[in-house]
Amino acid sequence: MKISVIGTGYVGLPTGVGLAELGHDVICIDKDESKIKTLQSGQVTLFEEGLPALFKKNVESGKIRFSGSFQEGIENADVVILAVGTPPDPVTKEADLKYIFAAAEELAQYLNDYTVVAVKSTVPVGTGDKVEALIRQKNPTADFDVISVPEFLREGYAVQDFFHPDRIVIGSNSQRAQKVMHELYRYFEGKTEILYVSRYSSETIKYASNAFLAVKIHYINEMADFCEKTGADIREVAKGMGLDKRIGNRFLNAGPGYGGSCFPKDTMAMACMARKAGVNLSLIENVIEKNAARKKQMAHRILEQVKDIQDPKIAVWGLAFKEGTDDCRESPALEIVQELIAKGAKITGYDPKASENARKILGNQISYAADMYEAARGADVLAVLTEWPEFKKADLDKLSSLMRSQKIVDCRNMLNSNEAFEKGFDYSCIGQTFKTVS
Ligand code: UDX
Repeated sequence: MKISVIGTGYVGLPTGVGLAELGHDVICIDKDESKIKTLQSGQVTLFEEGLPALFKKNVESGKIRFSGSFQEGIENADVVILAVGTPPDPVTKEADLKYIFAAAEELAQYLNDYTVVAVKSTVPVGTGDKVEALIRQKNPTADFDVISVPEFLREGYAVQDFFHPDRIVIGSNSQRAQKVMHELYRYFEGKTEILYVSRYSSETIKYASNAFLAVKIHYINEMADFCEKTGADIREVAKGMGLDKRIGNRFLNAGPGYGGSCFPKDTMAMACMARKAGVNLSLIENVIEKNAARKKQMAHRILEQVKDIQDPKIAVWGLAFKEGTDDCRESPALEIVQELIAKGAKITGYDPKASENARKILGNQISYAADMYEAARGADVLAVLTEWPEFKKADLDKLSSLMRSQKIVDCRNMLNSNEAFEKGFDYSCIGQTFKTVS
């Protein structure tokens, strides 16, 4: 089939490459000319495990190409996928749909044969109605259906999640559209559940899923606070909880609070939508507030470790919002670092992939180290802020020899507490209490 994907970001690019790999003819469109030029030159524009190889293969086979022209992309497409950003409005925190509506307006003029317009971006319930009305107004004779096909791709795992989704949700009551989508996703027949629901339900499933995951993460973070007061170990508690199939063992890693380009914006957008509909989602409202406060709580724990030191030097391991990605949007690590900077701390940060993106946000407010040990040189405390697996394998003897004082605040429970104590560190982490080395 001929597919057009509008938007070549963290959702659009993996989706386009994945569909090309399934054998479809894909054209990815973006208004950002520099991004299109980079993609056309054969360069992937974001870090995603496994994407470069698939990208290269499908560019070379001609199954995927890139253009800035809507006309080129839309005219012969069977399916047009909208994968543009829906960032939070800075004031209202509602999902800003300007890119969705701009894309809908522009593509409308090029629709000729029957086309399915699939909204993959995360959009408030009822947006499909607005997109449909906009296209009809722009091109009254166009033969099309607007459907909702939400994405469930985790950053850093987008390729894996594309080919091994837990479910595919198709939001449409149009038999014609469902037939087209059945053809598009034929590869997944028998591999995963393809759920056909109304457009409203599909739009809701995305927000309800992300908000639930955010609540689950905040729940385990609050349980961690409880464990710190009772002497329990949150990792043992999470393991015991997770064996209950109704709870499940994923998204039970206590940490500094969730971040990223989705959970923060989707929880806020969900709360806004509900308030406008006259429903009080008190649980989600509470999680939004407490999750933000948790970053400040983490910064306070780090500063407590160096409160008696003149001009303390703080080493930070991890700047990305989570492991496996170079993305720093709404990164808990950066929010904590900014809190530390505000209190006058001198910081050296290290991240395996995200330093350049962190520098775009922090500039020279911190120093950037080329490796984890360089970041720790001369530091009075080490803060572990992103759950990169390499931190688990840290050589604590080497770390101890490099630091000015041996203090660690492990906000991701990456290190082995017993080993840290044996090596003489004053070690603290999340959801456990220890005697500190006096
Ligand atoms: C999320 C959803 O998982 C995905 O399905 C949706 O399509 C997009 O939003 P993503 O934002 O990439 O994906 O990251 P995710 O892996 O969900 O992590 C979000 C945040 O929660 C990160 O800051 C991560 O560090 C944190 N997290 C995650 C925890 O603190 N504990 C956990 O157990 C899991």
